[in-house]
Amino acid sequence: MTSSLFLSSGHLLADRRYDFGRDLQARGDLVAAAELMEQAIELAPEFASAWFALGEVRQQLDQPDAAIAAFRRACETDVEDRHGAGLRLIRLGAEPVAEMSPSYVRALFDQYAPRFDMALRGDLRYRGPEILFKAVLAACHAASRPALFTRAIDLGCGTGLAGMAFAAIVDVLDGCDLSPAMVERARARDIYRTLDVGDMIEALQREDDSGADLILAADAVVYLGDLAALFAEAARVLAPKGLFAFTVEAWDGDGYGLGAGLRYAHSASYLRAALEEAGLAVRDLAAVSTRIDAGQPVPGLVVVAERS
Ligand SMILES: C[S@@+](CC[C@H](N)C(=O)[O-])C[C@H]1O[C@@H](n2cnc3c(N)ncnc32)[C@H](O)[C@@H]1O
Repeated sequence: MTSSLFLSSGHLLADRRYDFGRDLQARGDLVAAAELMEQAIELAPEFASAWFALGEVRQQLDQPDAAIAAFRRACETDVEDRHGAGLRLIRLGAEPVAEMSPSYVRALFDQYAPRFDMALRGDLRYRGPEILFKAVLAACHAASRPALFTRAIDLGCGTGLAGMAFAAIVDVLDGCDLSPAMVERARARDIYRTLDVGDMIEALQREDDSGADLILAADAVVYLGDLAALFAEAARVLAPKGLFAFTVEAWDGDGYGLGAGLRYAHSASYLRAALEEAGLAVRDLAAVSTRIDAGQPVPGLVVVAERS
């Protein structure tokens, strides 16, 4: 799931050179692809998509310094960084770990929305919603409480796959997502009372105190690095004994980092400390894998935390 976003340079010949360069890159002729991208950039020096593609090709050619220079130009020529060049710079060790550009996430999922369900359920064998659902049922069972909720908020609801899994046990379901195209698909499922297009932390900030008894985030927290603000808002919005259930990718080291799949991964110790700091008690934290990548299960964690 990487970006193939194309932003026209407004220069017909430069755009054509770019297209041909991408074609050569796909066929493995990387030296020729780099030349085509350089020609495109000569014609249109502010051509962000060509700078980004040149960075990718140089990376494939094992020219990290040249790739870094191209990714830096991609950031400068598109200040919103819709291609996610900033993430490539982090992975190349040229920049410290920082939050993702929301414009990148929005562009990525707007592009991906039409084939999201098929790609995730098929190729990636995505099981985030089922894993989250089972974890919530188990946490309720362990606490001898009914697995029924008055109001749930689905953060990063996407096309509504997690909403579908929980629809039978929540009276009212609201959702939010950065990507308008994903939200359009969620709306078509007719299971959400409201759907908000925007950032999940900002959506929570607009909520009243104690206004929900369940907050979900299936495979969505992976697009946030520092989780302190998210956890603090979730704790405020949850009613006492309300549950926050989410999945993350697992980080082996301390804290969190940006994985090879350009998604953040978080360590169990980071999650425990940040949840405790926010006033959320961990009821379950277990190793799971919500999807496969390149034929291998991606290591992850499922977490159910309770507002004390
Ligand atoms: C991999 S999809 C998962 C969608 C859905 N939860 C599911 O289980 O199918 C991740 C979703 O999170 C959304 N997202 C990422 N960062 C977000 C943020 N900061 N605020 C709101 N939505 C976000 C993306 O737009 C995308 O639709």
